[in-house]
Amino acid sequence: MQQSNKTTLDRNSLENDQMLAIVQDTYGATDVLQLRTVDRPEIEPTEVLIEVHAAGVDRGVWHLMTGLPYLVRVAGFGVTKPKNPVLGLDVAGVVVAVGSEVTRFQPGDEVFGVGKGSYAQYTAAEQDKLAHKPSNATFEQAAVSAISGITALEALTDVGKFEPGQKVLIIGASGGVGTFAVQLAHALGAEITGVSGPGMTDTVRKIGADRVIDYTKEDLVDGTSQYDLILDIGGRNSISRLRSVLAKKGTLVIVGGEGGNKLTGGVGRQVRAMMISPFIGQRLTAFVATEHFTSIERLAGYIESGEVVPTIGGRYRLAEVPAAIDHLATSESSGKTVIVVRERNGGANS
Ligand SMILES: NC(=O)c1ccc[n+]([C@@H]2O[C@H](COP(=O)([O-])OP(=O)(O)OC[C@H]3O[C@@H](n4cnc5c(N)ncnc54)[C@H](OP(=O)(O)O)[C@@H]3O)[C@@H](O)[C@H]2O)c1
Repeated sequence: MQQSNKTTLDRNSLENDQMLAIVQDTYGATDVLQLRTVDRPEIEPTEVLIEVHAAGVDRGVWHLMTGLPYLVRVAGFGVTKPKNPVLGLDVAGVVVAVGSEVTRFQPGDEVFGVGKGSYAQYTAAEQDKLAHKPSNATFEQAAVSAISGITALEALTDVGKFEPGQKVLIIGASGGVGTFAVQLAHALGAEITGVSGPGMTDTVRKIGADRVIDYTKEDLVDGTSQYDLILDIGGRNSISRLRSVLAKKGTLVIVGGEGGNKLTGGVGRQVRAMMISPFIGQRLTAFVATEHFTSIERLAGYIESGEVVPTIGGRYRLAEVPAAIDHLATSESSGKTVIVVRERNGGANS
């Protein structure tokens, strides 16, 4: 993508084929991010061009910004600098152009899903990573839903093989993935214990948890509780601690957990769990969410029915992306953070 030096906050002064975007030339902390004018992305035959109304902030964005752990860089995102200088994944907006092989969307469709640089006025996205926006959801709600929501849904169902009535422990219940996991587990008929920090326990209870453990006051290993399914989303508890509260035939799904070393980010915990699993009665597993439209459409169904309402913890404008990402790292709010790119009246918001 070519970049000009022009920086303006006035959308009307932009050339037609240009846009404002949050761009980074190197990996690093939020001070590497700049609001700049760049060319609008070209789309491939299987892609659509989306006019971005809102974009979501999640941990994945922090990893792409910093290039940490280094595993991220060799996974195809650029070894010495980001291949795609425009940051942002989660997106909701309106399709303005479609590639020659696109069959599922047409200009004018309201969509949400995963884009290729959503902190911008326009983004390209693969049609397979998009679904139609639920009619009852705002662009802001839809923009924070895809990545966290499908991660929660796949963790519970495809990977966790949840069955109604099971006891589920959700560690990291107040966060981006956790707030979707609690609501989905509730909709599916789980008995839910959620683990969160102080100040978030009421939120976790309100969205469907039967019991909430504040990890600063109580230990989730209490010597009595046993769970059929554990979603390990935050906190990086050791495998042996998690196994001690997992039923004999129970399933542990390791979704994430920040920290670890710079090279692998501590993926060793996931690898160890999967190596032990074949030799024990419990099933220990980890996964990476598919980002496929079949999961996004399933998630959309839960939003459409009102069983899942995306939890928005903070709102920022496009120029404020650095502050939004810093806010994410401090973990001071529940749910997801949204970047509002276009106001509801259609005006640009940068
Ligand atoms: N496998 C995948 O495909 C996939 C997809 C998406 C995300 N992830 C990963 O999943 C993880 C969570 O993502 P997220 O977006 O939900 O992050 P997030 O919004 O920052 O949420 C993290 C959660 O962990 C909780 N937590 C923090 N320290 C804890 C502790 N010591 N004990 C128990 N809970 C603790 C937080 O509670 P408080 O905020 O209340 O303190 C919060 O609920 C990240 O590592 C992310 O990279 C994986």
